[in-house]
Amino acid sequence: MDKLLIRGGVPLSGEVRISGAKNAALPIMCAALLSAAPLRLANVPHLRDVTTLLNLLGGMGVAVSLDEKLGLELDAGRLHTPLAPYDLVKTMRASILVLWPLLARCGEARVSLPGGCAIGQRPVDLHIKGLQAMGADVRVEHGYIIARAKRLKGARIFTDLVTVTGTENLMMAACLAEGTSVIENAAREPEVVDLANCLKAMGANIEGAGSDTITIEGVSTLAGAAHRIMPDRIETGTFLVAAAATGGSVRLRDTNARILDAVVDKLREAGATITADDDSIALEMDGPPLSVNLRTSPYPAFPTDMQAQFMALDCIARGTAVLTETIFENRFMHALELQRLGADIEISGNTAVVKGVAQLDGATVMATDLRASASLVIAGLVARGETVVERIYHLDRGYECIEEKLSQLGAGIKRIR
Ligand code: EPZ
Repeated sequence: MDKLLIRGGVPLSGEVRISGAKNAALPIMCAALLSAAPLRLANVPHLRDVTTLLNLLGGMGVAVSLDEKLGLELDAGRLHTPLAPYDLVKTMRASILVLWPLLARCGEARVSLPGGCAIGQRPVDLHIKGLQAMGADVRVEHGYIIARAKRLKGARIFTDLVTVTGTENLMMAACLAEGTSVIENAAREPEVVDLANCLKAMGANIEGAGSDTITIEGVSTLAGAAHRIMPDRIETGTFLVAAAATGGSVRLRDTNARILDAVVDKLREAGATITADDDSIALEMDGPPLSVNLRTSPYPAFPTDMQAQFMALDCIARGTAVLTETIFENRFMHALELQRLGADIEISGNTAVVKGVAQLDGATVMATDLRASASLVIAGLVARGETVVERIYHLDRGYECIEEKLSQLGAGIKRIR
């Protein structure tokens, strides 16, 4: 298994390009299943999760091609097997996003129940409840969700919790359902809006994406389209936090500050100077950060996917911070690894109290999930001496060429195969 060897203490400086958003690319690639005409996508990030999904779609009969500009074309014209097998779904939970499009397009779908996940149980009961509300016959047998529907019927659906992929799944199903659907308590994440924009380009009739109520008028078929994936706001936030933690000065290109207001606010509270224009965002940090408290909540509040990175920042900040994780029940595993580097963290339930220390000391640590890995990389960048981060296949799921980008910013980092 690959590892990352990091020599800490170098303030990041310079500029890098932010890749397309993983959490927009995954649902949008699944949207290709809704049409018999090709969907052409630009700015798709080259990530393990994207490759996994391409294998899954390919297995169903979707023709996948890359053009010379690394644009992706997905042609579901000859879709033949509405099945998402366990061995692929178990490596990527977002595979659940094929369920609705398959059902809406083929009238049936068999998708393996995504197993548990390091950060929490992450059930898909709300996905299934929404589908039943639209008239589908849904059963769970031998670990598979088996869904059938001649044609889905539009319905008013209220999800008890705000669910990002639940909202995305229901929005995709409603595009081809008969009649009007209204999704209440919908997720407002920018990736949901990006998916809605792609679906509208394909001919869907969607109002209200980005608000908590989305109205969809079903149509009989969707056409092909061309769409550019939005920038990855979590990759953007991760690099901003790394620059702040190392007391550096960076500019991030092909991204913008409008999609991560809550993160920018917290970084300013920590003492960073942040400026932004239409397609870039810059951060300067003089001296160690101030401790910042945070509480994760659905967008537009502070994103759970940035909690681990901020915990690394708070480890070397001046003061004491309280971090509360309200979305997932087990998203503090990075704390145990940060303590190996000398961090002072007390966990009780879904709250972590982080007392800033003057210095972290390099050690060997183990990544447990995607964003925890990013947290450990940031800690390694500020720790004295060498840090080795193991099991970085977690990192490769969600960050494109992270060690190349960090090296471009002056970091002492290399991958050990
Ligand atoms: C999406 O996951 C993201 N993944 C996650 O990013 C992100 O952390 C999460 O949203 C929250 O923002 C993708 O978009 C591919 P949820 P998702 O459904 O949709 C509970 C990353 O690091 N819930 O919004 O799976 C669930 O257990 C990943 O890039 C149910 O109880 O998350 C959680 O507590 C990690 N029943 C809460 O809702 C359901 O049917 C929010 O989950 C669905 C969800």
